[in-house]
Amino acid sequence: MYINFWYPMATSEELQDKPLRVRALAQDFVVYRDSQGKAHCLSNTCTHRGGALAAGKIIGDNVQCPYHGWQFDGDGHCRRIPSLGIKASVPGRTRVDGYPVDERYGLIFAFLGDLPESERPPIMEVKEWGQDGWRATLQHFEIKGYYERSIENGIDPAHNEYVHDTHGFSGEREEEYKVGDMRMEESAWGRGFWHTFKAPPLQGDLKKYRPGEGDLEAGTGYHGTNHVWTFIHPAPNYLIHQYLFERPIDEEKTHLYLVCERNFALEEKSDAYVIERNQYVANQDVKIIENLHPTMTPDTNTKEFMVPSDKCILLYREAQKEWEQKGWRIDMDAVHASRGKVAYAIPSPGRRESKGWVLDPVPLVAASKGSQDSKPGLKAAG
Ligand code: FES
Ligand SMILES: [Fe+2]
Repeated sequence: MYINFWYPMATSEELQDKPLRVRALAQDFVVYRDSQGKAHCLSNTCTHRGGALAAGKIIGDNVQCPYHGWQFDGDGHCRRIPSLGIKASVPGRTRVDGYPVDERYGLIFAFLGDLPESERPPIMEVKEWGQDGWRATLQHFEIKGYYERSIENGIDPAHNEYVHDTHGFSGEREEEYKVGDMRMEESAWGRGFWHTFKAPPLQGDLKKYRPGEGDLEAGTGYHGTNHVWTFIHPAPNYLIHQYLFERPIDEEKTHLYLVCERNFALEEKSDAYVIERNQYVANQDVKIIENLHPTMTPDTNTKEFMVPSDKCILLYREAQKEWEQKGWRIDMDAVHASRGKVAYAIPSPGRRESKGWVLDPVPLVAASKGSQDSKPGLKAAG
C-alpha cells in the first residue's frame, strides 16, 4: 500500500452530522463535517492518550475526543484542552495529522500523504460528470481481497470471456476466441488500452441498441495506485463509462466505489437496473478475487506466468515499483512487527512545515537514490 494518493473515504451521503471512523492503508481516520458542512479528515488517534476521535462528538468546527475532551480543528490543530482551564493556551505539538480533502462525484476523497499540492497525483477525472446526455450512478461495497488484485482484475482483458456471461461466451467458442490487439494509451499517472471483442446479444430493453451479438469496443486502464477506468461501447448510442475508486482498508479488505456514467436510459427510474447489472458483474469478479492465492500480488513477476494479455498488469506493477522507489510504499512488515505497541500516522503535508509530532509517521520502504522527486516519471514500457 502506498501513501501520496487520493483515497475515497466515504460517500457524501454517508457523511452527515456525526464523525465517521474510516480505515485505510491499515490506519484509522476520522472524517467529519464542520459547521459549514465542509468535510475534513484527520488521523483518528488523539495525541493525549490515544483516544479514538471518531468515537467523539463534533463541537462547532472541531471534533472532540471522547476521553478527556480535547478538541481538534479540521486541519488537526488542537484548539482546546479542558483540563488546563478555559484560558490556557494549547501547545503546538498536540497537533494530529490533517489531510487534504476533496468532495466530488458524490465521494469524500482524502489525500493520504505529505506531498505539497503541486506534486500530488490528481483524482481520476469523471469527464461526463454533470454533462448533458449523461447520467451517473454510484454504488459501493467491501470485498475480502487485496486492492492490487482488484485493480489488476479491472485491467485484464482475458477474464471477460470466462468470468462474465454478459461480456463473453465462457470459452464455448474456442476456435474463434483470442484476445485481439491491445491499442495502448498513456497518461501522466496511468496506462490503459482499447480492444474489440465479440459479445453476446444485449438483454431485455437494451436489445434495441444492438439486437444480436456483435463487436464490443472496450477500453480500460489504471490511474495511480487505486483508480481504474473502464469504458464499454456496445453500440454507438450505448456507452458506459465506469470509474472505480478503491480504498485499501488493509492487506485483506478493500472498499470499492463505482461511479458509472451512461448515455442511454437517462431517466432516474433506470438507475436501479444499472446498479443491479453492475453489481451482478462485480460479484462475478469478487468471487474470483477473494479466492486468489496468494491473496496479495507476488513481489516478483516470475512467480506467475505472464502472457501478452497481461501487458497492462505488468505496466501497473512497474508503476507501483516506481512509486516504491520514490519512498511511497508503506513497510507493512515493520507495521506488523510493532502491532499493538506503536500508533502510527500517515504523514500529512503539515509535517513538511513543522517538526515535533507526537505520533511516529508510518514506516516506509526506503526510496532508492535519485528517485525521491515526486514528479510523474513513468518510464516508457514496451
Ligand atoms: S485521549 Fe483524547 S483527550 Fe485524552
Ligand atoms: Fe470483470
